[in-house]
Amino acid sequence: MLFSSPDKERITHLLFDLSKTEKMFIVGGAVRDSLIGKSFNDLDLVVERNPEGIAKKLAKDLGFAFVELSREFGIYRVANPWTVIDISLQRRKSIEEDLKLRDFTINAMAIPVRSLFEDRAYFIDPFLGYVDLKEKRVRGIAEGNIVDDPLRILRGYRFFAQGYGLLERKTREWFAKHAKSLILSAPERILYELELILLTDRAYEAFVLMDEDGVLEVIFPEVNPCRNVPQPEYHHLDVWGHMLESLKWAEAILKDPEAYLGRSLPKDLKEDKDFIISVKLASFFHDLGKGYTFKQTEERIVFYGHEKVSSDLALKIAERLRFKRDLGERIALLVKSHMRPCQLLTEFEKGTLTIRAKRNLIKDVPYLWDLFIVAMADSLASRGVDKEPDYEDRLRSFFHHLFSFKEELERVEKRERVLTGRDLIELGFKPGPIFSKILAAVELKVLEGEIKTKEEAVKFVLENYSTYLLT
Ligand code: CTP
Repeated sequence: MLFSSPDKERITHLLFDLSKTEKMFIVGGAVRDSLIGKSFNDLDLVVERNPEGIAKKLAKDLGFAFVELSREFGIYRVANPWTVIDISLQRRKSIEEDLKLRDFTINAMAIPVRSLFEDRAYFIDPFLGYVDLKEKRVRGIAEGNIVDDPLRILRGYRFFAQGYGLLERKTREWFAKHAKSLILSAPERILYELELILLTDRAYEAFVLMDEDGVLEVIFPEVNPCRNVPQPEYHHLDVWGHMLESLKWAEAILKDPEAYLGRSLPKDLKEDKDFIISVKLASFFHDLGKGYTFKQTEERIVFYGHEKVSSDLALKIAERLRFKRDLGERIALLVKSHMRPCQLLTEFEKGTLTIRAKRNLIKDVPYLWDLFIVAMADSLASRGVDKEPDYEDRLRSFFHHLFSFKEELERVEKRERVLTGRDLIELGFKPGPIFSKILAAVELKVLEGEIKTKEEAVKFVLENYSTYLLT
């Protein structure tokens, strides 16, 4: 088995000992993934009796933490930061009956632990999960199992997005039929699955299926007013279509940033889950407010202030689903700022873009990559007759310009200051709030290239701020 835990040896040894006296089965993801040659880190064990005692023994021998997940159902967790082992009491008389209560056929297979150590390893597969796994099909076991735990609906799209296969037709019918019950699931559980979907590169495809089955609007009821809302000729899709299309492009850009933005992603961002989630969700939510601000004036369609409404709604959604606070705020800020790159591009091309404006953008939205991916996805998702065909090229050049500016800004900020508070005191200024104002003005002039030396800085200060000098 492709068990990739750093504690594999010790765990294997302990399972070998335990299986001499206890009837134990490996179930769930570990079986599923090892059958397709995928490694796994976490183990789910089903035991015929005494799950608490077995879990406590494993925790003690491994030096892992012991957590009681549900005394009522006999589920215990043994974990360290790298590996999680869940130990559950078999819920029916036989393992086959236990497997019958699970979500999907690919997750309803079991390997008797003992068999692994007797050179006769085999797996129990009452619902032909192995065939589904090989033929790439995600198939629910029974409608009642969805009703028992509606979160399984979202898990189904998650397994689809993770590449385990297409969702079987009947399974989707069950999902559609019971979509509304999904709200009965704890927001934390919904969030967990939603994030897993967003972290794959099939989030767009999963969202489309979820939309077709009426599931997306259960998680995000705020999107409903966006359906069938027309847009100006710049767009080829209505607001709802454009929101989904933007997610599609955001995902395409994340897959190949160099092709769309002409730069490769910094290494730390590639691994950054919050970055991926915020780019995808901000792209999806950026025009949410249009459904609430649509107005048809005599000459044209307008959506005044839609970015603020979108941002407020995105924050509300993030709070309801218990996103980490900083992640929710990051998404909301990106949504609120999604038009700024385009607005600044106009100024840039007119030659009226000031250093102050560029610096403000970088300070206000410290996620330049995220912001430009959202802006680029927005642009790629707009293909109306009024759309300029070279717009993405211009946006890309502007992105490069801003990036160089940001690097220069960081260099200047790191450099020793040409003028300090101490210098101001020596010049005869009285310490107070005016100091930071004067020093910021000097810094701006340095950035603009107008001040290079201390003498030039002193001259500038005396010319502009002498009224604040001590008398
Ligand atoms: N399970 C289920 N219904 C759920 C959650 C889990 O039937 N709502 C069952 C499935 O058999 C699943 C197993 O419990 O395979 C373990 O669940 P979990 O650890 O949450 O997921 P995995 O399937 O192991 O997948 P992954 O490790 O990728 O999360």
